[in-house]
Amino acid sequence: MAATAVVLAAALGGGLLLIARRFWQVAAGAGAGKVKRGMEGKTVIITGANSGIGRATAAELLRQHARVIMACRDPLRAEEAARELRAELGVCARGGGECRGELLVRELDLASLRSVRTFCHQVLQEEPRLDVLINNAGIFQCPYTKTEDGFEMQFAVNHLGHFLLTNLLLGLLKSSAPSRIVVVSSKLYKYGEINFDDLNSELSYNKSFAYSRSKLANILFTRELSHRLEGTGVSVNVLHPGVVRTNLGRYVHIPLLARPLFNLVSWAFFKSPLEGAQTSVYLASSPEVEGVSGKYFGDCKEEQLLPKAMDDLVARKLWDISEVMVGLLK
Ligand SMILES: NC(=O)c1ccc[n+]([C@@H]2O[C@H](COP(=O)([O-])OP(=O)(O)OC[C@H]3O[C@@H](n4cnc5c(N)ncnc54)[C@H](OP(=O)(O)O)[C@@H]3O)[C@@H](O)[C@H]2O)c1
Ligand SMILES: *[C@@H]1O[C@H](CO)[C@@H](O)[C@H](O)[C@H]1NC(C)=O
Repeated sequence: MAATAVVLAAALGGGLLLIARRFWQVAAGAGAGKVKRGMEGKTVIITGANSGIGRATAAELLRQHARVIMACRDPLRAEEAARELRAELGVCARGGGECRGELLVRELDLASLRSVRTFCHQVLQEEPRLDVLINNAGIFQCPYTKTEDGFEMQFAVNHLGHFLLTNLLLGLLKSSAPSRIVVVSSKLYKYGEINFDDLNSELSYNKSFAYSRSKLANILFTRELSHRLEGTGVSVNVLHPGVVRTNLGRYVHIPLLARPLFNLVSWAFFKSPLEGAQTSVYLASSPEVEGVSGKYFGDCKEEQLLPKAMDDLVARKLWDISEVMVGLLK
């Protein structure tokens, strides 16, 4: 009897705590969306901006009057997201007049080196400047797939595609300095390792490991790039967004009966996309991090990394191999 009462009280208390936490988070997120003109005249490229954290990042930077280029693989999905954002925020397709910010869509499939090159070629022809590049797009735990270039899909999209993209846009970022690169990684980097003997998972494929490896690669890439960019006025930082309610889990199978429970847990504990975008927005736009480079952030604060994510030798070797893989060095 007493035991039942304790369990009931605990459940009730826990439920109330959850609800309180949720409302506190919603309030915190809402305060972050205030209108500022801090990004007026600045051009920002966001990869994977049609969904989740990328879409919320675009909305927040548009609220600060940025010119945002959504770099997305599906032009239809991207145009639809752009239409919604323009309507929601009062943004124009092409600037001028009474516009608040500017929003354009350009096609970029990070799983294809050819597409990355075409995208960059167009940007370099059309854009006189680039102030911020946000490497946000990502794919999570998909079944084993090889890209048209012969790479394992998660390593290709999360790391290699962004590696080539960043390198091809580096000249424009340098000529626009002070400028910033923001890389979206994940805490799951902790379970990864850069196994140079099987970067394409041809010997064995573990989808969790491959995701973690790609997110560790994001951090090592940031580290090596920050060394290479010293003195250029271009900064590069990496972040983890926390656990966020987005489409990222599309390949994760949740049994039908467990779905209501999963939805409840994600509602209570996961961040909204707006909350999940705050560190990306902070690193892209806050004067507080002007000149800060090579650091790892969570919840808009610097965080410590495990030694394996600070290994300069591995970072250097990964850079050299990536250059060969994407055809920057023949
Ligand atoms: N959600 C989380 O809890 C969480 C936690 C840690 C880290 N992250 C990181 O946050 C970033 C954003 O993810 P999200 O949670 O916002 O997920 P999401 O809603 O699935 O958004 C991912 C975006 O990446 C795009 N993308 C996927 N493959 C692409 C490709 N080949 N070329 C170009 N774009 C591609 C997607 O395009 P489509 O819509 O066309 O598929 C989508 O726009 C990812 O880097 C992810 O690793 C998320
Ligand atoms: C797959 O990788 C994850 C993360 O590295 C690891 O925890 C798990 O044990 C691996 N699974 C198998 C079957 O090896």
